[in-house]
Amino acid sequence: MSVLVKGGTIVTSTGRYVADVYAEGDKIKSIGKDLDNPADEVVDASGKYVLPGAIDPHTHISMPFMGTSAQDDYKTGTISEACGGVTTVIDFDLQQKGESLLEAIERKQSWAKGKVAVDYSLHPAVMDPRPEVIAEVKQAVLDYGTPSFKIFMVYDFRVDDATMIKLLEETKKYGGLVQVHAENVYIIQHMNELLEKEGKLSPYYHAVSRPNIAEEEAVSRAAKMVELTGSRIYIVHLSSKEGLLKVQEARDKGIDVFAETCPQYLLLDEDRYKEPDFGGAKYVMSPPLRTKESNAALWGGLNSGDVQVVATDHCPFDFNGKKDMFGKDDYKKIPNGAPGIETLLMLMHSEGVVKGRISLERMVEVLSTGTARMFGLKDKGEIVVGKDADLVVFDPDQKFTITQEKLHQNVDYTPYEGMQMTGMPYAVYSRGKRVAEWKDDHVEFVGEIGRGRFVKREPFEGF
Ligand code: URP
Ligand code: ZN
Ligand code: ZN
Repeated sequence: MSVLVKGGTIVTSTGRYVADVYAEGDKIKSIGKDLDNPADEVVDASGKYVLPGAIDPHTHISMPFMGTSAQDDYKTGTISEACGGVTTVIDFDLQQKGESLLEAIERKQSWAKGKVAVDYSLHPAVMDPRPEVIAEVKQAVLDYGTPSFKIFMVYDFRVDDATMIKLLEETKKYGGLVQVHAENVYIIQHMNELLEKEGKLSPYYHAVSRPNIAEEEAVSRAAKMVELTGSRIYIVHLSSKEGLLKVQEARDKGIDVFAETCPQYLLLDEDRYKEPDFGGAKYVMSPPLRTKESNAALWGGLNSGDVQVVATDHCPFDFNGKKDMFGKDDYKKIPNGAPGIETLLMLMHSEGVVKGRISLERMVEVLSTGTARMFGLKDKGEIVVGKDADLVVFDPDQKFTITQEKLHQNVDYTPYEGMQMTGMPYAVYSRGKRVAEWKDDHVEFVGEIGRGRFVKREPFEGF
């Protein structure tokens, strides 16, 4: 199978130029002017961008959580990705009690087998930190191809600071990266008790129960552990101005604290919790949506380089029958999480690039090139000869109104319903094979279920 993409504007993280791209099999074989390689498929990309496929390093596919499970499985989840221009996902793999990291990886690989439409990798989440599990970090980094490890400072399955320190020590030795969900659990417990006494239990109080200082304190504490150990850490789904200031403070001292944010923390704010008819429940996620001030600060963090990655935290639960039932009388019971995988690239382009909040090149860095570098995806994230032909031919003028019916996520709502997009994927390629394309008024999946592969990643080499 070969494809020749003619006359598009190739965008890198540092510039753009007009050229043709020729891919054969899985790989990009040549890039240049007026290429005339005979190809099975020739695409006219004039007037369009040619972007490296986006990489989403934060998803919860089929994750059991809060008495239910995140609803996208590897089939529906990777179809949505393909349609949104995401060609690689790194999914969280929550270790169960008694499991080794390898058993957790093999369990999730068995769920993915035959179902994935695009490539994927896994981050083991350490939840049962027995000494032999900490010792397994070496193999996970060097043999299993999973050099990043998630820990939670909140939820029932959180780990303590001692475990964080041990993991930081161990990952430092072998080129691993600890990823942390940073919120102070005791602040949240205290707020929950106060709000319960006052009978304040509607979705709006989810945000009140998790104030910005809960993130600020946890980011600051995690950064101190990095200072202590000389290791490195990656804060997932950074949501607040205060948390960002702690990231910046650490980075200014030369401490390796990296951060990811998500479209919801850049574009939505706490007013959403006031939507009528229990609609606020759609936005119950942790950390919660913040203020417009935090939105603006996070765009600033992306541009200053203090935030290196944009991911989705895709964790979908239906509004009808799940969000509106489980937590009808108490925000604490609403399954935490929201969908977002299919809307990542369109939102970052339309709300970010078109509105002048971020350059096109920086968007490519935070969605693809930087993400590949952060997570050791050596064949992904850039349009250069020898890399995987994961490409998005992107029409920057194509209009689209986001609506749940036109998306492929296995959930009954999108937080971005009704938003008008400028710029949409025109054709998406995963290792040289077309997996999605624009048809009439939406993107359609045209790929092959089961063609996606597990990608082994390389140890962290610096950022
Ligand atoms: O609310 C969220 N974010 N749900 C998914 C789990 C997590 O904390 O990332
Ligand atoms: Zn989290
Ligand atoms: Zn998450």
